[in-house]
Amino acid sequence: MFPRKGHSLFRRYSLIKIDSVSKHFGGIRAIDNASFLIEKGSITGLIGPNGAGKTTMFNTIAGLFEPTIGKIFLQGENIVGLRPHQLFEKGVLRTFQIAHEFTTMSVLENLMMVPPNQIGERIYNTWLRRRQIKEQERGIRHKAEEVTEFLKISHLANELAGNLSGGQKKLLELGRTMMVDAKLVLLDEVGAGVNRTLLKEIGKAIVRLNKERGYTFCMIEHDMDFIGKLCDPVIVMAEGQVLAQGTAKEVTSNEEVIEAYLGRRSKHRDKIADRSVEGGV
Ligand SMILES: Nc1ncnc2c1ncn2[C@@H]1O[C@H](COP(=O)(O)OP(=O)(O)O)[C@@H](O)[C@H]1O
Ligand SMILES: [Mg+2]
Repeated sequence: MFPRKGHSLFRRYSLIKIDSVSKHFGGIRAIDNASFLIEKGSITGLIGPNGAGKTTMFNTIAGLFEPTIGKIFLQGENIVGLRPHQLFEKGVLRTFQIAHEFTTMSVLENLMMVPPNQIGERIYNTWLRRRQIKEQERGIRHKAEEVTEFLKISHLANELAGNLSGGQKKLLELGRTMMVDAKLVLLDEVGAGVNRTLLKEIGKAIVRLNKERGYTFCMIEHDMDFIGKLCDPVIVMAEGQVLAQGTAKEVTSNEEVIEAYLGRRSKHRDKIADRSVEGGV
């Protein structure tokens, strides 16, 4: 019989499979034989103490580093060796802070910068080319406007990116992933330095992108409240290895995790245990 939707078999469909990956920097084992899945349609949390290898893991998935050993599969295809732009084209996106040179451009212009140029150099007829470029630009502008509406930042469309608050910049970074067809978005400490109200907005945007647009997320975050509300499953890394995985509740009550990571922060654990993980944002 076919499993019902929501059945664990559906949830177990992996978008990314990390298969015995290690990444060494000289003598440092930043990632040390780690294996885990990022399930399609999930918002997967990646937590662990500083230096656990989380950011290195993201950089390895996104093609910035090649693993010293191991394989990474995207829907069954080994993607080790692909360059970041090739992974970008396959829908694997790592958000980046708005680069300094883009701070003097508006929010809309920042969004419009994202899509790769779709008009090939093959069109030599300048008149035709100009017309096509114009049409393409109109389409991209329209898409950028839709993105600002989705993220509820239309009122900031013409604001210079440099004038945005920390949280608004994060929303713009998220918006940039909406300009292309993202499959997996890797968010590294999206909540860092963001005030509570905007963090809630960012959380809502992530959930909507997940539910309405089918984005899969993997997010590194220190704010355990945020992780507890958004992420299932949560993967815990320590010293380059995967220490545990499960729901936020499960991993935060796992003795090994508490010892390795939450020992100093056990009051956070109690806080999370009191909350409903399914409660949404
Ligand atoms: N480019 C690099 N060169 C050398 N060592 C690195 C590099 N990137 C990370 N490391 C080391 O790898 C380990 C894991 O770092 P990182 O992935 O940034 O951890 P996390 O994001 O969990 O805090 C740390 O010991 C760090 O110093
Ligand atoms: Mg990091």
